[in-house]
Amino acid sequence: MPHIPVLLNEVMEILQPQKGEFFIDGTFGAGGHSGKILEAVGETGKLISLDWDKKAMERNKSIFGRNNFLFLNRNYADIKEIMKEKSLPKVDGLLLDLGFSSDQLDDSGKGFSFKKDEPLIMSYSDGGLTAYEVVNSYPEEKLKEIIKVYGEERFPGRITRAIVEARKKEAIKTSFQLAGVVREVLPKSYERGRIDPATRTFQALRIFVNGELDNLQKILGDLKEIVKNGGRVAIISFHSLEDRIVKNAFRDMKKDGVAEILTKKPIIASAEEIKNNPRSRSAKLRGIKII
Ligand SMILES: C[S@@+](CC[C@H](N)C(=O)[O-])C[C@H]1O[C@@H](n2cnc3c(N)ncnc32)[C@H](O)[C@@H]1O
Repeated sequence: MPHIPVLLNEVMEILQPQKGEFFIDGTFGAGGHSGKILEAVGETGKLISLDWDKKAMERNKSIFGRNNFLFLNRNYADIKEIMKEKSLPKVDGLLLDLGFSSDQLDDSGKGFSFKKDEPLIMSYSDGGLTAYEVVNSYPEEKLKEIIKVYGEERFPGRITRAIVEARKKEAIKTSFQLAGVVREVLPKSYERGRIDPATRTFQALRIFVNGELDNLQKILGDLKEIVKNGGRVAIISFHSLEDRIVKNAFRDMKKDGVAEILTKKPIIASAEEIKNNPRSRSAKLRGIKII
């Protein structure tokens, strides 16, 4: 299913992109938000979009090749350094729409989804750590910690023991193999059937492999150097660990007098949006203005 941008109008409401302004979208994905921002800043404005996944360049091709748009296959955590490298001015607005896109579930070939049988890679970028290495070679205790903390999983011990037993017999090479091992040891009533028993284990591995929370912490610490006074920041997160990090960072910036909070409570999707795009169900949008 093609990726549908989440909370699109609400994001635009926070970012308020104006003609001639300079924006960065740190997570291009399928370019839904980027396209809308580019339209708003117009020919005299500029947008730089990043995505760690090269395949993102194959999506929303309609905006590639425009003079006022640049795509970079880089980690958003390095935006401050990239701005120095390229001698860029501070931005009028920054968007982060965290996690993975529906396209990555469909066609990444990297094992993000337990619904497709693919090699266990799970890293957005090419090269570096893979889920295969973590699952097949990490010590039991470390693996348990990853699944417990990043998956917020209630049965990390059971799952890890099953993984360790399974990998003694043969390497766990694919998403189907891993999902099978996890499902077998979890109760039938897991989360009252709301989610597949493998969901939290897959989430944990993806977050760990990509250092997702570290990336988020890093850019939140750099915001003052990336965004100009009066500039806006919008961040969409998809699980409580991320949302807590964003909420605390924004609160601290407010306390330090460097930001005004634009969203007292996180903005969530309407019932109608959730109906059209179930992925939006867990989205939480927060925004600040740098002062
Ligand atoms: C939810 S999608 C973004 C969807 C996009 N807003 C749209 O409307 O199509 C998140 C994207 O961020 C990318 N991503 C995740 N972590 C990243 C990072 N640290 N740096 C750059 N891109 C990252 C993923 O590869 C994925 O394509």
